[in-house]
Amino acid sequence: MDKIILQGGQRLRGEVAISGAKNAALPIIVSSLLTGGWNTFHNIPDLVDIRTIKRLLVDFGVEFEGKETLRVNAGNIKSCVAPYDLVKTMRASILVLGPLVARMGRARVSLPGGCAIGARPVNLHVKALQDLGAEIELKDGYLEAKASRLKGATIYFDLSTVTGTENIMMAAVLARGTTVLENAAREPEVVNLADVLNGMGAKISGAGTDVITIEGVDSLHPVEASVIPDRIEAGTFMIAAGMTGGDVKILSCNPGHLDALTAKLRETGMEISLIEGGIRAAGSERIGSVDVKTLPYPGFATDLQAQMMTLLALGNGLSVITETVFENRFMHVGELIRMGADIVLQGNSAIVKGVKKLRGAPVMATDLRASASLIIAGLAAKGKTELSRVYHIDRGYQQIEKKLSALGADITRVKA
Ligand code: EPZ
Repeated sequence: MDKIILQGGQRLRGEVAISGAKNAALPIIVSSLLTGGWNTFHNIPDLVDIRTIKRLLVDFGVEFEGKETLRVNAGNIKSCVAPYDLVKTMRASILVLGPLVARMGRARVSLPGGCAIGARPVNLHVKALQDLGAEIELKDGYLEAKASRLKGATIYFDLSTVTGTENIMMAAVLARGTTVLENAAREPEVVNLADVLNGMGAKISGAGTDVITIEGVDSLHPVEASVIPDRIEAGTFMIAAGMTGGDVKILSCNPGHLDALTAKLRETGMEISLIEGGIRAAGSERIGSVDVKTLPYPGFATDLQAQMMTLLALGNGLSVITETVFENRFMHVGELIRMGADIVLQGNSAIVKGVKKLRGAPVMATDLRASASLIIAGLAAKGKTELSRVYHIDRGYQQIEKKLSALGADITRVKA
C-alpha cells in the first residue's frame, strides 16, 4: 500500500483549485438511472469513490464516456443487483435503491454494513421507501425491493439524513402524486441533486430547506449539468493554511457553503476573506482555542471535525469538540496523541488542550477525513510523518499531495 511522507514546517502559500464535490457527484451520477439517453455532467472529480459508483452502474448496463465531463446513458438497464463486494467498499451505493425501484420497479441492494465512523444504518431510507409503497424485505443481507408504481406520501425523517433525503427524492420524482419530505437534509449537495433532477423534468421545490415537495411525473429526460465545488476539500485547505501559518487562495469554491467553518476559523484568529472566485485563508501566529459542535448543514460539518481538531491541537488553551452526527468519529485522536497532541475523550466530546508543537511520527489512516487530519498534522509537525493506508484519502481528495506540494508543502507519495 502507498504511503505519504511529510516533512513539517513549511508555510503554505499560493493558490489551489478545488475539485467537484464527491458527495454531490455520487448522487448526481446515480440520478442518470432515472432516464434513458445521454446525460452530461461537468466538474466530476477523479476519485476512487467515483470509479466505484461507475463500476456499479456499468454492472447494471449503464454506459459512460469521458471523465471530468462525464456522459452517462442508462437507456438499457439489464440488472438491478448491487452486490455486497462493491457496496461494502462504498456505503453511498445505497443511493441506487430509490432510482432503481422508481424506474425499474425492483432492486436487490446489499445492506452497506457499518464503517469506521459508525454503524451507519439505512433504516430511514427503507422506511421512507415503504411509505412510498415499495415492498422491501431483507434476505441474505440484501434489501429486496419491488413496486409496480410508487405513490406520493408525506414522509417524516426521524433524523436529518443526507443520502436518505437524496435516495427518497430520486424515488419520488417518478411516483404518482405528491411527496413531501419533512425534516429533510439541507446540505448543498441535496440542492445540487434537486437542480439536476429538475433539469431532467422533475418538479421539486424546497430543496435546501427542511421541507421538500416533489410532484411526481411520468418520465424524465437527459440533462446537462454541473457538480458544485467540494466544500469539504475547500475547508480542509483553509484549515491547512491556518495550521501552517500560511496564506492560501482557495479558488473555484463556493464561500457560501462554508459559513460555519469560516466563523470558527475567524474565532481562532485566522483572516478569512472573500476574493474573486473564492476564499483567501491566512493563518495567525497564535491559534486561539474555540469550542466546536458538529451539526447537520448549515451547522459545522462533521466532515471537517477531524481537520479542525488538528488545528486546535496547537491552540493556546482548551477546546471542546462535540461530535453529534456519528457515534465513532474520533479514530484520528489516538494517532494525533502519538504526534504529541493532548486530547481526552469524554463520550461524544473531545477535550483538546493546545500544545506548542506536534512531532512527526508514523501514523495510520482509518477513514477518509481522519486521513486528511493526519496530513494536516504532518504539515506542521516537527520532523517526518509517515502516513500509511492512504487509500482512505484517495476516496475523497483528488491528488492531495500534488495540490499541497504546489503550495510549498514537503510531501511525497511513496508507491508500495
Ligand atoms: C453523508 O453520509 C455523507 N456521504 C457523509 O460524508 C457525511 O459525513 C454525512 O452525510 C453527514 O453529513 C455522502 O453524501 C456520500 P447521514 P450519510 O445519513 O448520508 C444516521 C465523507 O467523509 N442515520 O446524513 O450516510 C447515521 O448513522 C462522508 O465524505 C440513521 O440512523 O449520513 C448518522 O448518525 C462520511 N439511519 C446520521 O443519521 C439512516 O437510515 C447522519 O447520517 C440514515 C442515517
